[in-house]
Amino acid sequence: MGRMSLSALAPQRPRILSGMQPTSDSLHLGNYLGALVNWVGLQEEFDAFYFVADLHSLTVPTDPADITRRTRVTAAQFIAGGVDPTTSAVFCQSHVPEHAELGWILACQTAMGEMNRMTQFKDKTAKGHNANVGLFTYPVLMAGDIIMYDAAYVPVGEDQRQHLEITRDLAERFNQRFGETFVVPEPYILKESGAKIMDLQDPTAKMSKSESSDKGVIWLRDDPAVTAKKIRSAVTDTEAEVRYDPETKPGVSNLLVIHSVLSGTRVEELERRFSGQGYGALKGEVAEVVTEALAPFKARMDQLLGDPAELDRYLAFGAERAGEVARETMRRTRCAVGLLTAARSAASALG
Ligand code: TYM
Repeated sequence: MGRMSLSALAPQRPRILSGMQPTSDSLHLGNYLGALVNWVGLQEEFDAFYFVADLHSLTVPTDPADITRRTRVTAAQFIAGGVDPTTSAVFCQSHVPEHAELGWILACQTAMGEMNRMTQFKDKTAKGHNANVGLFTYPVLMAGDIIMYDAAYVPVGEDQRQHLEITRDLAERFNQRFGETFVVPEPYILKESGAKIMDLQDPTAKMSKSESSDKGVIWLRDDPAVTAKKIRSAVTDTEAEVRYDPETKPGVSNLLVIHSVLSGTRVEELERRFSGQGYGALKGEVAEVVTEALAPFKARMDQLLGDPAELDRYLAFGAERAGEVARETMRRTRCAVGLLTAARSAASALG
């Protein structure tokens, strides 16, 4: 890692912020196409903060060793996907303890009813997950993550839209009650397609780290042969027409979207090209496009995971940058709500 200086990176550009949970041993194609590709594209224009949401991942009971390992993998995958850790702050949420503090202050501005309405919580509990209080208040911690960095935009997939809405509500409410303190963030969700990649085995459900079956998910770490096999076995429909229609042909539409986002070819053009060819040809080409796109990604990821000390240095650098912003936000926030400012030194106060 070359020399990096904090002052050289002083923010001139508007900020963006986003995070991913380390809840599996790899990110998947939905995380990549719905968010990571966008993160990479935006980092030139914006002062970017990208973090591993390790505190959020504690909402699901997990073996501690898994959390540690997955946190490093997630960070390595951000970088392997093209995030530059010397210009964008790449960090672990728990390395900036102010996240938990802001989460608490915001929780005290949040109505129980607002959390009750959150669909992710409702879905998870409906599926029989044993919910804890952390899972219930998860969106408040997430709102704090975003508000902390005065983020103008938050690049996420479609499934995070409701969380962004509650974040905006909380920021606006806080500003009304305590005076202008926070930037009200805008979601930055891809319009076209990649914003919701579907499960290959159940194309009516999103591809998910925790809910999908292994066969339904393209893990960014999968061997190319495994990836190709999963794509060839993707559920489609009983017609043979390659046509984009997410309502009646969700499986085929998902494959078209994956191809289109990765190859940069418009969906209509793909429909024309595969017309009369059946699903086998489409699947074969999607497999090629995906494995080709992921080859350099995998090489870089292996290199990063082979040198955890280097990776940890990137994370330390990112946490240092993030911490600078977070401390300033908390100073403003504590002051706004009336918390007494701590004396600088207890020893000198006592003479
Ligand atoms: P997480 O870890 O579930 O997902 C990370 C990102 O990937 C996107 N995504 C998808 N996009 C398209 N198709 C899919 N099938 C798909 N599955 C996931 C998500 O929209 C997300 O952008 N709550 C967040 C983590 C978080 C966060 C934050 C995000 C915590 N604090 C602050 C932004 C800002 C989550 O669980 O993402």
